[in-house]
Amino acid sequence: MVEEEEISSVSLPVAAPALPYSQIEQPDAIRVRTGTPEFDRVLGGGIVAGSLVLLGGEPGIGKSTLLLQIAEGLSEQRQKVLYVAGEESVQQIKLRGQRLGIRGANLFLSSETCLERAFEEASQIRPDVLVVDSIQTIFTEKLGSVQGSIGQIRECAGQLLTFAKREQISTFLIGHITKDGSLAGPKALEHLVDTVLYFEGDRHQNHKIIRAVKNRFGPANELGIFQMTGRGLICVENPSRLFLSERPAQVPGSVVLCSIEGTRPMLVELQALVSQTSYSTARRTANGVDPNRVALLLAMLEKRVGLHLLGSDVYINVAGGLALTEPAIDLALVMAIISSYRDRPISQSTVVFGEVGLAGEVRAVNLADYRVKEAAVLGFERVVLPKSNLPLPDSPSSVKVTGCTSVQECLDWLDSRK
Ligand code: TYD
Ligand code: MG
Repeated sequence: MVEEEEISSVSLPVAAPALPYSQIEQPDAIRVRTGTPEFDRVLGGGIVAGSLVLLGGEPGIGKSTLLLQIAEGLSEQRQKVLYVAGEESVQQIKLRGQRLGIRGANLFLSSETCLERAFEEASQIRPDVLVVDSIQTIFTEKLGSVQGSIGQIRECAGQLLTFAKREQISTFLIGHITKDGSLAGPKALEHLVDTVLYFEGDRHQNHKIIRAVKNRFGPANELGIFQMTGRGLICVENPSRLFLSERPAQVPGSVVLCSIEGTRPMLVELQALVSQTSYSTARRTANGVDPNRVALLLAMLEKRVGLHLLGSDVYINVAGGLALTEPAIDLALVMAIISSYRDRPISQSTVVFGEVGLAGEVRAVNLADYRVKEAAVLGFERVVLPKSNLPLPDSPSSVKVTGCTSVQECLDWLDSRK
């Protein structure tokens, strides 16, 4: 009783008094376009002044190349950029820059690895944008631990955040991350920074995908798609065309779906291979989709559609190295598995999307009309989608739309067309 009274009588000084909602002013975020539309897209429309952005990815995937090109785009707009490269000498960076055709009128390079000295340099140069390549190579004198340790990474990023906000210098941190998690330090910074961008897929493929995993100033999951060329990264204006470019003709197990990652609809080929297993337990492998989702849909097919898959290996792959996260891909997954199992192709001019429930029901997805339009733009003739998404607000006349309420109905419709 006594304790409660004591607690209730404690009064703390109010540092930032609460304000009435109506009186809170919200200045428009000042954004600077980088001159690279796909990069602006993942940032949510350009760089927000004073923001801290983490760009992560495997070593060799293109992080330094991209940010050097971005630096050039900004420099051309008279934005001053300081590129702090602890990883390479300034000569090495210039060599890369020459290959990329960079003039760098307002670009400054430094190979500093000490954070305090980098701040000193930034205070003199007063850049609009600061690039730290990479957060693993920089260290603060405040801590005794070695460069690249979690403690150093956290402390340096924390100080860079304070510096970016105080000086209104937009800051990019490059971080090396490997798929197996052996270099996972930058992951510990996700909560701290404003925006987290990761290169997706592997570094051997020619096109590069960047995903905004977190963004305080724009939609999360937005994708930027680039192509690596002899002269650096160039924007891919039509990702659907790229992802479908190597699609095999009339092969069982191949289905085109329309997925919306971020705000853009994209047509992607999904492939399934179902084959009799020669192992004691069947193998299930999924690239680009959640393996748990595949397991769940396989169980549904076994129970509701009567497909006997227990003795079959099932391999799923998303062509092009894209990772698809939304449930709207379910119906295409199911159709690809069935198509491979029966060894019957699905018409090449068909696009499929819809969420599938455990009862085998096909559920509505968001933005169905956007997806259908994208299919029409790329010349597809038929879209199979959830019936509950119909009627569409406006549907292109070049596309025939088939609504389904269940996986079984979808199959019956396919069979009726043979
Ligand atoms: P880089 O940007 O150094 O990768 P990261 O900073 O993520 O470690 O380089 C990525 C790869 O791209 C490298 O293997 C060389 C290649 N590359 C090109 O194909 N074209 C180019 O114009 C440049 C500069 C690099
Ligand atoms: Mg690099």
